[in-house]
Amino acid sequence: MSKQFAVIGNPIEHSRSPELHQAFAKKMGIELNYVKRLAPLDGFEASVQDFFAQNGTGMNVTVPFKEQAFTLCTELSERAKIAKAVNTLWMQNGKLHGDNTDGQGLVEAIQALDWNLSNATLLIIGAGGATRGVIYPLVKAGVKKIVIANRTLIRAEQLVADLQNSVPEAELSACSLEQLQGNFDIVINATSASLSGDALVLPEALQFNHAYEMAYDKPSSFLDQAKARHVPTSEGFGMLVGQAIEAFYLWNGVKPNLKDFI
Ligand code: ATR
Repeated sequence: MSKQFAVIGNPIEHSRSPELHQAFAKKMGIELNYVKRLAPLDGFEASVQDFFAQNGTGMNVTVPFKEQAFTLCTELSERAKIAKAVNTLWMQNGKLHGDNTDGQGLVEAIQALDWNLSNATLLIIGAGGATRGVIYPLVKAGVKKIVIANRTLIRAEQLVADLQNSVPEAELSACSLEQLQGNFDIVINATSASLSGDALVLPEALQFNHAYEMAYDKPSSFLDQAKARHVPTSEGFGMLVGQAIEAFYLWNGVKPNLKDFI
């Protein structure tokens, strides 16, 4: 029987993980089975246990369970510990292992665009879980300075205070959306504004050379403003593919090429 994989979330119908993993498997000559698994909001742990009891090999975790998945694991990667969230699970010697591939997915998506991360200065807008998950991989990829800007300044300040020790080789700082100014190599929208259809206003004093929107398939006022400034832009489909490739690599030991799938 081929290996069994699943993506677990609530809702789950929209997930593109099964089609991505099947496409990777085809390309790499591997046979696998990958399904969507809807867990009740109060039934995540039972659903995970059931999946691995039935000899499941690996699971991806999506909204709203990534933080809960983190608390279930007995073995965690460094990047998952820093993210405090897990999107990739597997069982080894009876222990539940957790990793977080979202940040590496973003790094590889940006590198596939040929935007330079080495010694780069970045602005990340948003200070929620999406931002927390990408700081460490971005710094490991060579980013030297990150400003985290948030509507609620205190959340950005807390995130900087919490993460600075984990990335001593980079300089983190916080600011409010109104204070935003200066020149950045890349600005990343990690807010949920596009998901909820809200506008985000970028001040004139803010300058940047590239703009990355983590959301995809959504109207984005952030990307509209970046395009009006004629800088290269990207929406987040590459990040989605990148995190899936990294999970596929953890489970199967072979790594598909991102550029073949975007
Ligand atoms: P996620 O896990 O996706 O990061 P989250 O933890 O709820 O979700 O964080 C959402 C982020 O989007 C926050 O930084 C939020 O700003 P606040 O901390 O001020 O709430 C930001 N956000 C959501 N809607 C926004 C909007 N309309 N304008 C600006 N920022 C917004």
